Amino acid sequence: MGNFVSASELKTQNEYIKKTAALIGGRGKRAFVFTLGCQQNEADSEKIVGMLTQMGYTMTDNEEIADVLIVNTCAIREHAEKRALSIVGRFKHYKAKNPDVIIGVCGCMTAQEHRREHFKRSYHYVNFTFGTGALHRLPEFIYNALMGGKRYFDKDAQTPEIAEGIEITRASTYRAWVSIMYGCNNFCTYCIVPYVRGRERSRKMEDVIAEVKDLVKRGYREITLLGQNVNSYGKDLPEKTSISELLHEISKIEGDFWLHLMTSHPKDASSEMIEAIKDSPRTSGHFHLPLQSGSDEILTKMNRHYDLEKYLGIINKLRKDNENITLTTDIIVGFPGESDEDFEKTLDVIKKVRYDSVFSFIYSPRKGTPAASMENQIPEEIKHTRYDEFCRVQNDISKEINESLIGKTVRVLVDGKSKSNEQVYTSRTQGNKIVHFECDKDLTGNFINVKITRADTFNLFGEII
Ligand code: 5AD
Ligand code: SF4
Repeated sequence: MGNFVSASELKTQNEYIKKTAALIGGRGKRAFVFTLGCQQNEADSEKIVGMLTQMGYTMTDNEEIADVLIVNTCAIREHAEKRALSIVGRFKHYKAKNPDVIIGVCGCMTAQEHRREHFKRSYHYVNFTFGTGALHRLPEFIYNALMGGKRYFDKDAQTPEIAEGIEITRASTYRAWVSIMYGCNNFCTYCIVPYVRGRERSRKMEDVIAEVKDLVKRGYREITLLGQNVNSYGKDLPEKTSISELLHEISKIEGDFWLHLMTSHPKDASSEMIEAIKDSPRTSGHFHLPLQSGSDEILTKMNRHYDLEKYLGIINKLRKDNENITLTTDIIVGFPGESDEDFEKTLDVIKKVRYDSVFSFIYSPRKGTPAASMENQIPEEIKHTRYDEFCRVQNDISKEINESLIGKTVRVLVDGKSKSNEQVYTSRTQGNKIVHFECDKDLTGNFINVKITRADTFNLFGEII
């Protein structure tokens, strides 16, 4: 199944890496990468940094002194696209100062034709754009730009191939992303992802396992398996497999680490998968299950293929004999046609399930998606009023749940010194709750136990045990 980038294409890219390194290596050339959007983009950027480093660039946080500037964009909501445009916009000055600066834009936004055209016509200083499926060709794009080649605007394939073996420079030494699949087949009516990331493709189980094993060996403490819908992992592989089988195989790897799935789709959440999650302390402490709306009518209009009853059934299974599990979800407020009643139903579910935290979003029409041309678009003002109310309700719940942890001991993974207070360290629980504590020793990257003494809506405070 021509699902994988061929060895010869990877070799070609490797040649570009070597040729670039021969040209610029050891000359103090610097590269700056700005990442917007989800964890998948974070993971893609770690590959971008990996390749740039191999090409001889040193990474910098200072865009003003960079020789290569890359913006990895997100298209999920208008706000993210506007941010990308403004960031690329300010890069104009750097090119004006130094015409040799190379500017590339990639990610979900540039996989859309109208955006590609926009970058081509209105941002004359941008050297190249490419979509998520052409990530492995970055060395070629950079080399061509270095050689004074023509501006280039790559059009992604509908179903891009998977490129294995790309160098990854991970941002953290203890938390890691592992993509297990790419793309999405679900076409939720609000969502741009299937249009910009193509159809579902799974990585081979052996490749995923090898990557996880390597990370565990190197001391990684938290591994997140990434995919737009990890529950359908393996269905497209010639030797069919499943997410539960993958979890089963990973369970054989020895080591002390947390394992997350990001993201699951309720329509494909099988009993086997739920049991596999509950079966291991590595996974049983947290689950993220996007609900999107508490109204069956809206869920149908969203093309989600489940109703509230099914969804709540999964939540019950996850919680059965596992009541301390941290549950999180995604909610969209103000989807076309959402009535006050529909919105109330969402609030009811939130109050009933009592999620630890919710990622809530105001519906943002995306060009080319069915929902963008649905009737009864909700006026901005109503969307915002509902969103504010939603946040009020959820914040109270998050605060109550956090306060119920006072006096309890939680296991956390330490992230390092807090930005605002030198004496305080910040850490996170398995369910991603932020825990601050005082400590005179740097325990970054380690698991420790903390007794919770204080709590607010977004933070817990405690003492090391
Ligand atoms: N508007 C608002 N939120 C969206 N999401 C996806 N598309 C849109 C959109 N057009 C949200 C969904 C998804 C999360 C990653 O982003 O809740 O689960
Ligand atoms: Fe978008 Fe739905 Fe696919 Fe998630 S499952 S990426 S929300 S289309």
